[in-house]
Amino acid sequence: MSEFKPGLEGVTAFETEIAEPDKDGGSLRYRGVDIEDLIGEVSYSDVWGLLVDGQFGNGLPPAQPVPVPVTSGDTRVDAQAAVAILAPYWGLKPLLDIDDDTARSDLARVSVTTLSFIAQSARGSGLPTVPQSEIDKATTITERFMRRWRGEPDPDHVKAVDAYLISAAEHGMNASTFTSRVVASTGADAAACISSAIGAMSGPLHGGAPSRVLHMLDEVERRDDAEGYVRELLDRGDRLMGFGHRVYRAEDPRARVLRATARTLNAPRFEVAEALESAALAELKARKPDRVLATNVEFWSAVVLDFAQVPGELFTPLFTCARVAGWSAHILEQKGLGRLVRPSATYVGPGPRKPTDVPGWE
Ligand code: ACO
Repeated sequence: MSEFKPGLEGVTAFETEIAEPDKDGGSLRYRGVDIEDLIGEVSYSDVWGLLVDGQFGNGLPPAQPVPVPVTSGDTRVDAQAAVAILAPYWGLKPLLDIDDDTARSDLARVSVTTLSFIAQSARGSGLPTVPQSEIDKATTITERFMRRWRGEPDPDHVKAVDAYLISAAEHGMNASTFTSRVVASTGADAAACISSAIGAMSGPLHGGAPSRVLHMLDEVERRDDAEGYVRELLDRGDRLMGFGHRVYRAEDPRARVLRATARTLNAPRFEVAEALESAALAELKARKPDRVLATNVEFWSAVVLDFAQVPGELFTPLFTCARVAGWSAHILEQKGLGRLVRPSATYVGPGPRKPTDVPGWE
């Protein structure tokens, strides 16, 4: 009998050529390329190509409009529904019935449409749609995203969002990526795979909430005493948001690149964030000397997204925009394996019995 591993922790279910965080070295490489060598050098669209095709260049095609309006007011929920709808409207076929080139093209269309849908939803219904001619002035996919959302964007905001999208594009076998592979393994279509992965992001344990970091920054700004704030928070038994990680036993490399981005772009809250970070690291080291509790991605992504004027409720949808790249790469890889994911469970329920033994039988 195979060993029971709650939550599949430590279980290796796939071999992948895409990426897997280097836990001890604290680096993250996409198909061997360190994210530190990508940010500021190539655009998010190139990174989509690197992850999916293993090469730069092809990137993403122009977006097509979502055929049916989906407007509940919650951008992430709407994106999940809008993406699911694409399959019947576009006539997407199951991955099982198409070749790799068609699957790649479907994934590209779904990915870019996810971005454009989220940008349009972020703009809201109160503002007129940005004319296509204005969107077409963009030179990168991130700029297109920002133009569709805001009209003429601040170039530094575009850089900040691009850095975030690249840093969050892929992160190994996390919950949503695993979901996308499970659905892909059934031979489902590209839209079903991506829409289910968006669903997996709805939980705060994965979709994250960097907005909680902003609350800490607000408090430190208000009190002007990072050390005192950190001590009080830990004395109360609370956790410092943006510190510690389940996988990394070193600094989260995404924190490092986004800190550098915040510094380069002169994010106005850079100094307060640095003061909070050094107070937090010193206090965590003093209290937990045997455990590495370093800065994680949530801390500096909050600072970078705040700088780009991304409101807290759009942090998770932006995470979705980033992760469509990693999902697409994994969906295609899974298609190549052609094997249904079907783990087993140990049954611990009642033994054999008659329906009459079940409560509620009349
Ligand atoms: N602040 C204070 N103490 C902490 C923190 C923190 N941020 N992180 C861990 N600790 C302490 C725990 O209280 C625990 O102490 P104990 O042994 O006395 O009980 C010890 O360090 C180990 O904690 P675990 O929860 O076992 O560590 P784990 O590695 O499993 O948890 C996690 C990782 C959940 C991210 C944790 O560090 C945490 O809660 N951080 C704050 C929330 C956060 O930043 N989440 C975003 C993570 S990044 C991402 O999801 C993309």
